[in-house]
Amino acid sequence: MNDLKVFTGSANRPLALEVCRNLRMPLAQALVGTFRNGETRIKIEESVRGADVFVVQPTCAAADHHVMELLLMIDSLRRASAARITAVIPYYGYARQEKKTTGREPISAKLVANLITIAGADRAIALDLHAPAIQGFFDIPVDHLTAIPILAELLKQRVRNDLVVVSPDSGGVARANDFRHHVGVPALAIIAKQRPEPDLVEIVEMVGDVAGMTAVIVDDIVATGSTLVEAADLLLERGAARVLAYAVHGELAGNAGQLIEESKIESVVVTDTIPVRPGTRGGKIVTVSVAPLLAEAIRRIHEGSSVSALFRPPQKPGAILERA
Ligand code: R5P
Repeated sequence: MNDLKVFTGSANRPLALEVCRNLRMPLAQALVGTFRNGETRIKIEESVRGADVFVVQPTCAAADHHVMELLLMIDSLRRASAARITAVIPYYGYARQEKKTTGREPISAKLVANLITIAGADRAIALDLHAPAIQGFFDIPVDHLTAIPILAELLKQRVRNDLVVVSPDSGGVARANDFRHHVGVPALAIIAKQRPEPDLVEIVEMVGDVAGMTAVIVDDIVATGSTLVEAADLLLERGAARVLAYAVHGELAGNAGQLIEESKIESVVVTDTIPVRPGTRGGKIVTVSVAPLLAEAIRRIHEGSSVSALFRPPQKPGAILERA
């Protein structure tokens, strides 16, 4: 088999290092910077001729910059004769623009997939895409992994009785249900929400009984934090004893960290697909690593063994990094 090499841009270097630590190999060398005029500068600093290359780069904020770094890294690796290039995108930015919600809007998630493919990626690894159908936006193989079993395992270690799993919107029901099965909880509640405008949340109704129970909200992304906070208020109003939250991607935009700290939610567990934002340390937000899962997927793809076995079974959680 060709040499395995793992590169990263600047989006989440700690995650890439942790992936490499799990693979027991060093991170490959590349210069990732900016020219004085603001353009992104990339230089691959070791030979990749004939290598099986993985580029770990979540396209989180600043999304445009991180997308560009990923594209330029792929382009330089292709021009340097890498045998195969896999884009490892633990968090896929623009995923919530996967359809037009009104006239004269782009489908940004599709455009970014086109760009990654045209740049020269041979395949991609993604984790808990906001809409699973985004896999089909790529005309290359996509291994769509999930961190839900990792999060479910953490909850199981913590509390098992009187739980009700809550989906904070109709689009997340399959995800919450999956989580529920991993934990082995019978009760599921579903909240219907709407967005009168981008980044604003209005709760419409809830189906399910939560009275006297520990309500566990399961979501893919915490962005502004409004969905979690509004959902928690409703759950407590309807008699829930306490509210916990588990989400894969902790985007924590703007003052989301502060909003969560001041909310009635007891704790929010997220993964490290997106680096912990400064200023959100030391409170209710806990981060767990997905590096072991990504490393195992990379190892299997490199060795040509099945990755589908990773899609469903319970995963051993990575280390709890620290209270975020
Ligand atoms: C929305 O459809 C997603 O599943 C999340 O609920 C949403 O991205 C959370 O956003 P925010 O934290 O801004 O309410």
